[in-house]
Amino acid sequence: MLDPLPTLPVDTRGRPIHDLRISVTDRCNLRCVYCMPREAYGRDHAFLPRAELLTFEEIARLAGIFTRLGVEKVRLTGGEPLVRRDLPVLVALLAAVPGIRDLTLTTNGVLLADQADALAAAGLRRVTVSLDADDDDTFMRMNDSGVPVARVLAGIEAAEAAGLGPIKINMVVKQGWNEHAVLPMARRFRGTGRVLRFIEYMDVGHTNGWRLDEVVTADEILSTIDAEYPLEPMPPTHAGEVAERYRYTDGAGEIGIIASVSRPFCGDCSRARLSADGQLYTCLFATAGHDLRALLRGGATDAEVDADLRRAWGARTDRYSELRSAATLDLPKVEMSYIGG
Ligand SMILES: C[S@@+](CC[C@H](N)C(=O)[O-])C[C@H]1O[C@@H](n2cnc3c(N)ncnc32)[C@H](O)[C@@H]1O
Ligand code: SF4
Repeated sequence: MLDPLPTLPVDTRGRPIHDLRISVTDRCNLRCVYCMPREAYGRDHAFLPRAELLTFEEIARLAGIFTRLGVEKVRLTGGEPLVRRDLPVLVALLAAVPGIRDLTLTTNGVLLADQADALAAAGLRRVTVSLDADDDDTFMRMNDSGVPVARVLAGIEAAEAAGLGPIKINMVVKQGWNEHAVLPMARRFRGTGRVLRFIEYMDVGHTNGWRLDEVVTADEILSTIDAEYPLEPMPPTHAGEVAERYRYTDGAGEIGIIASVSRPFCGDCSRARLSADGQLYTCLFATAGHDLRALLRGGATDAEVDADLRRAWGARTDRYSELRSAATLDLPKVEMSYIGG
C-alpha cells in the first residue's frame, strides 16, 4: 500500500518548498570575473575531492525524498554541470523520479553542442544558457578563459535542435565590464523566441570583491532597452518567479529581469539548494549548510531523511536580500560556484 499523502511543510514565514537546485560540481571550465576570478581560483585551488561529491544515486534518492515535501521542479547547476562526467546518467535517474514535473539545467554552454542530444534523450526538458555579451572582446574579458561567443551560440542552437527550448539566456550585468552589451544582446535575441534575462550582479560569496557601485540596476537596464525598443510589464507565470517579465510592445517577444539587489524577492522564495557535497542551503546567501551527506552515509532511512528535511525547512528564517546592508556584507557566505545560483 502507498504511504498516505504527507502534508507539505512551510517555513517560519509560511513559504512552501517548490524548487530544488542541485549543484553537481564546484569545478568550472570558465573563470567569470564575477563568480570565479582567476586570482582566487588558480591552478592550486582546492576543489572538492571526488569522494566528497554525492553520487548520482545519492542525488536521485534525495530528490525523490524532496518531492514528498513539495518539490516539483529540479534544476541542475554547478560550477559548470556539464564538466561532471556522465551527467546524462543523472538526468535519466531524475527523469524517472515520479514527482519531478520540470527538469532543467543551467550551463555556460561551452560543452552544450557536444552533450545536448544525450541530455535530451535522457529526459532533460529545458536549458538556461549564460552569456554575458555578444561581442568577443567583452565576453572574453568576462569569462577570462578565451571562449568566444560563437561557441556558446553553437551550444544554444544544438540545444534547440535537440528539443531543449524555449531557451533562456542569462546575462549578468557588471558596471564597467559589460553594461554596453545590454542593448546589442537585446537586439540579437529579440524575435528569436529565446528569452534573455538580465541579472543584477549579486554579493554572493567573497572572492568577487562585490561592491554596490558595480551593480547595474534593473531600472537602468530596462530604461536602456525601453529607449530603443519600448517595453511593457507582463504578469508572472507563477508565484515566486524570480524574473520580472516584460514584453516588447512591437511583438518581438519578452525579456526577464532578476533584480535581487534592487528589488529583493525573499517574501515568496520557495527554493532549496543542494551543494555538490550534499549540504542543504535554504538561501543563496546562507552562511552554513545542513549536512545531508552525513545522514545518507550514516545509514538513515528515507523516513528519517524526510523528517530531517521537514525540520530544516520548518526552521527556515532566511531573507538575506531584504536585510542586505553593510553589516551583511562581511558574513561568511558561500561562493556561487559552490552553491550554483
Ligand atoms: C553559478 S552559475 C552555474 C551554472 C553555469 N556554470 C552557468 O554559468 O550558467 C549560475 C548562474 O549564476 C550567475 N552568477 C554567477 N555569479 C553571479 C553573481 N555574483 N551575481 C549574479 N549572478 C551570478 C551566472 O551568470 C549563471 O547564470
Ligand atoms: S558563472 Fe558559471 S561559467 Fe561562470 S565561472 Fe561561475 S560557474 Fe563558471
